[in-house]
Amino acid sequence: MSLLELISRDELRQQVNHWQQQQRVVALVPTMGNLHAGHLSLVQLARQQADVVVVSIFVNPTQFGAGEDFGNYPRTLDSDREQLIQAQCDALFMPGVEALYPFGSEEFTKVQAPASLANTLCGLNRPGHFDGVLSVVARLFNLIQPQLAIFGEKDFQQLLLIRRMVMDLGMPQKIIPARTVRVASGLAMSSRNHYLSDAARQQATLLQQTLHQVATQLQTGKRDITGLETAAMDSLREAGFDPDYVAIRDAETLATVSGSELPAALRILVAARLNGTRLIDNIACSIK
Ligand code: PAJ
Repeated sequence: MSLLELISRDELRQQVNHWQQQQRVVALVPTMGNLHAGHLSLVQLARQQADVVVVSIFVNPTQFGAGEDFGNYPRTLDSDREQLIQAQCDALFMPGVEALYPFGSEEFTKVQAPASLANTLCGLNRPGHFDGVLSVVARLFNLIQPQLAIFGEKDFQQLLLIRRMVMDLGMPQKIIPARTVRVASGLAMSSRNHYLSDAARQQATLLQQTLHQVATQLQTGKRDITGLETAAMDSLREAGFDPDYVAIRDAETLATVSGSELPAALRILVAARLNGTRLIDNIACSIK
């Protein structure tokens, strides 16, 4: 099994034309590389739903803020390629900046994420982050023209924003969510886990435990939403984390919720720094 490698817009266009002539259903899995089992689960899901699976690897400069880890983001192309071959991916699109931002990544045609969904949680302290994500995903959709695209629930806010963009702009892509893949201890797999020492990785399992504790409290009738969020943040702080948020939100809209009229589907989300590495996680929680 060979992996088709595509770099330029022209190579990609030729290949896309070919797939379209053959009426093949194309699925796209967008990534920033440094692939792990979480990414590969998306590839597997794509293979179940499409004839051709394209993975893109592009560390997108427009979604990183000043002082974030764009320069240091792990780039591991050889191992990524190997894993994609094993996972029976058909094509790897690994464009340079000029293929996605032909006029440069400083001034470019931008998709502006809707504020109520973008300027909260992970968008609150990262202005423009989700504009960058949507701008690159829109470009990938236009260039590759997949019928479907897979996104992980690990980045739950990103998933909702992409769904919203597709509906808002009338894009034809079907967006398929994929469950979060975890290591045995419960820690959500992430490229950023590489920045953690063994001890810190162990400590990081507390994030998922905290989410489950909050869910249990909601399910056993606790309704002081702010109290639950604050207590969870405090316990993370005591354990050595620097939490950005623990939030109990409406799973459809990410709107804040009130204890007196909770929607049936909730999402509990956390972002916290551990030894300078920003980690995120979230779980579903349903209230009967
Ligand atoms: P990246 O962080 O590389 O993630 C690529 C995809 O893999 C995303 O849809 C993400 O949610 C999913 N993913 C990451 N870890 C996962 C895990 N443990 N289990 C399941 N899925 C997981 O997200 C991005 O890249 C970028 O923002 C991108 C969408 C590619 C735009 O640049």
